Amino acid sequence: MAAVPPRVSRPLLPLLLLLLLLAAAGLSTCAPHDYLDALSKSILFFEGQRSGVLPPDQRLTWRGHSGLSDGYEAGVDLVGGYYDAGDNVKFGFPMAFTTTMLAWSLVEFGAMMPPAELRNALAAVRWGTAYLLKTIAHPNKVFVQVGDPLKDHNCWERPEDMDTTRTVYVVTPENPGSEVAGETAAALAAASMAFRQADPAYAELLLDNAARAFEFADTYKGAYSDNPGVKAGVCPFYCNFDGYQDELLWGAAWLRRASSNDSFLSYIQNNGKTLGAEDNINEFGWDNKHAGLNVLVSKEFLEGQVMSLESYKESADSFMCTLIPESSSSHIQYTPGGLIYKPGGSNMQHVTTIAFLLLTYADYLARTSQTVNCGNVAVGPASLRRQAKQQVDYLLGDNPMRISYMVGYGDRYPQRIHHRGSSLPSKRDHPEFIACKEGSPYFNTGRPNPNVLVGAVVGGPGEDDAYGDDRADFRKSEPTTYINAPLVGVLAYFAANPS
Ligand SMILES: *[C@@H]1O[C@H](CO)[C@@H](O)[C@H](O)[C@H]1NC(C)=O
Repeated sequence: MAAVPPRVSRPLLPLLLLLLLLAAAGLSTCAPHDYLDALSKSILFFEGQRSGVLPPDQRLTWRGHSGLSDGYEAGVDLVGGYYDAGDNVKFGFPMAFTTTMLAWSLVEFGAMMPPAELRNALAAVRWGTAYLLKTIAHPNKVFVQVGDPLKDHNCWERPEDMDTTRTVYVVTPENPGSEVAGETAAALAAASMAFRQADPAYAELLLDNAARAFEFADTYKGAYSDNPGVKAGVCPFYCNFDGYQDELLWGAAWLRRASSNDSFLSYIQNNGKTLGAEDNINEFGWDNKHAGLNVLVSKEFLEGQVMSLESYKESADSFMCTLIPESSSSHIQYTPGGLIYKPGGSNMQHVTTIAFLLLTYADYLARTSQTVNCGNVAVGPASLRRQAKQQVDYLLGDNPMRISYMVGYGDRYPQRIHHRGSSLPSKRDHPEFIACKEGSPYFNTGRPNPNVLVGAVVGGPGEDDAYGDDRADFRKSEPTTYINAPLVGVLAYFAANPS
């Protein structure tokens, strides 16, 4: 049958043109996002945060080797790992959490990634685990940090030039640190799952070490910021504000998931109450694991295997309900433009962890044909995914400032991020040493940073959706590894399921 050309009467043509124009305008203000591009950049960012000896296949070539004698003052090898943000300190607590979230991203969404990005993401996880294994390589010690933050923050110096004191902070049976040891156990167990297919021998090594780290965390209970020597180095930056109990449950939950070993399930069942599992705290970040723990542990209940874990599903539900507009529960705070907002700076960390939990819980519910009970309404996976998409689209540019909060993504993105390596000239372009205070002009200039830290997501706008792109305003303009780590999973999901 021949196609019949549509017949349009002449008076209708101008109207049609107008409609077409309107449709085009609508599209251009709300262009679909290139989630795959954003995914690939979100992973690339981690190369910019690398400490230690950079490998030949390093793609962010404006960075060089750094921190090559880290650990020396304690007689151990602590070379490697990640700088947490725009400074040159290696903070173990957020580094372990970053590694857990990168690994969890792969555990849930790695199968959706194109093979090349999966390889890049595994390399990012391994950069974290290689370092974490060094921190627990000596009996009865966990090295929790390298670098004196006060001395470091007093300088604006490239990591490659760093000449500040590389103090080594350690926890021991007498001065324990169950939060760092517990988070390290979680990171190694989650990473063992991420590596199970690609490198089974490494996966086994990670799992054995996860169990060792957990045993140390549980045998010698305490918070690292109660130790005066460690406190001076970690507080107020990554002080343990909310206790170590959540990391013990979190570490056990990851070991249970990775090993299916019943002794970790018993641990959760026997210690949940005393360790505060039922406190129903709606937080998830480097310090507070509760909402993540509830989602993670709910999986076993949802799959119908362990009824005693029902309270975790109830807590996960009540957290999800605070994010669902139709529910009658009290809601989380949003900016007028629709971004999740929590006071305290580096707000995007909340946006990405919560988007990750929304998508992960949606998957658990979808696979078991269940819903969230929000009192008056039952909420399905599609609704959770819609909430996550709204957050990630805001982050990528659908916001009142019309700016992408991911550096290097889209046409408009932050130019003056609070990041030493990005804002100082590269060693390649300026091989001469730039001392501590000689970096100040680069900090103070209004010019854009010379090195684009592709994929870095900054702290983001304030509660009024405003963003000044000001290097000095670190609460808004500094990227961190734990903002990006969960975002890797979120972007993998949307790259595979764009609508
Ligand atoms: C389960 O984990 C415990 C604690 O790490 C360990 O002692 C035990 O050998 C493990 N069981 C199996 C079957 O691997």
